[in-house]
Amino acid sequence: MTIHQPPRSPALRFSHAVLGLAVIHQLIGSEWMAKPWRMRDANALQATLFELHEWAGLTATVLLVVLLVSLFRRAPGDFFSRYFPWLGVVGRSGLRADVNQVVAGLKKLRPPTSRQTEFLARAVQGLGLLILLFFTVTGTAMWLLEDDLELMHRIGSIHELGALPLKLYLLGHAGIAVVHEWRGEGLMRRMFAVRGG
Ligand code: HEM
Ligand code: HEM
Repeated sequence: MTIHQPPRSPALRFSHAVLGLAVIHQLIGSEWMAKPWRMRDANALQATLFELHEWAGLTATVLLVVLLVSLFRRAPGDFFSRYFPWLGVVGRSGLRADVNQVVAGLKKLRPPTSRQTEFLARAVQGLGLLILLFFTVTGTAMWLLEDDLELMHRIGSIHELGALPLKLYLLGHAGIAVVHEWRGEGLMRRMFAVRGG
């Protein structure tokens, strides 16, 4: 099912693109960085990777706020039903129709276009926003509590629970965007356009 598509502002496109890069950086760097509660055992590179993680994470927090405000302004009064369609009756029936389209399309080895499954796409993007909100809130809390290493460690073990959902989200969201682009639907060109969108 299709949803009305107002144009995307430069702030929306810019914050989304840089946020995407920051998140990929967070996922890669966090594999090797030092943990603040084990800083004494860390080498210089691991300590620098943690510093970068901290500052990229705080930058991502600001970018997420810009993205949320831009999405809100793009469709005022429509934000929740767009990105969390499962909250309403119309959205849930749209989602069911989209899932049926995907299943039917996959059976015929011809998946539907992005225009035919917009409820599903928005629902996935909404989940991505929630996952990032989780990381930015727990990350910022750790940054504010840097003097209390024990509490920071406890929040860190909650923060890391988001890693698998984030990886699955990025794989699904970016992977499907690449597939649609490859099919010539122009999603990436529009989303990452320097002008227009
Ligand atoms: C968008 C923002 C952020 C994202 C996407 C993010 C992502 C991640 C990921 C994927 C991990 C690795 C989890 C694992 O597999 O072990 C991690 C760990 C960690 N992050 Fe972040 N992070 C963000 C912001 C921050 C901020 C602002 C801080 C500030 C202190 C921070 C501190 C940490 C710490 C201390 C760990 C280690 C947790 C542990 O091992 O218990 N993060 N982060
Ligand atoms: C965690 C990081 C990311 C988040 C939270 C996120 C979130 C979003 C959101 C909310 C939208 C909808 C924008 C709108 O309605 O105007 C969107 C669209 C899009 N994203 Fe992401 N995104 C992320 C990373 C990426 C990455 C790495 C790519 C690279 C392929 C990507 C490609 C796209 C594309 C092509 C669209 C347009 C889809 C359409 O027109 O239906 N995103 N993203």
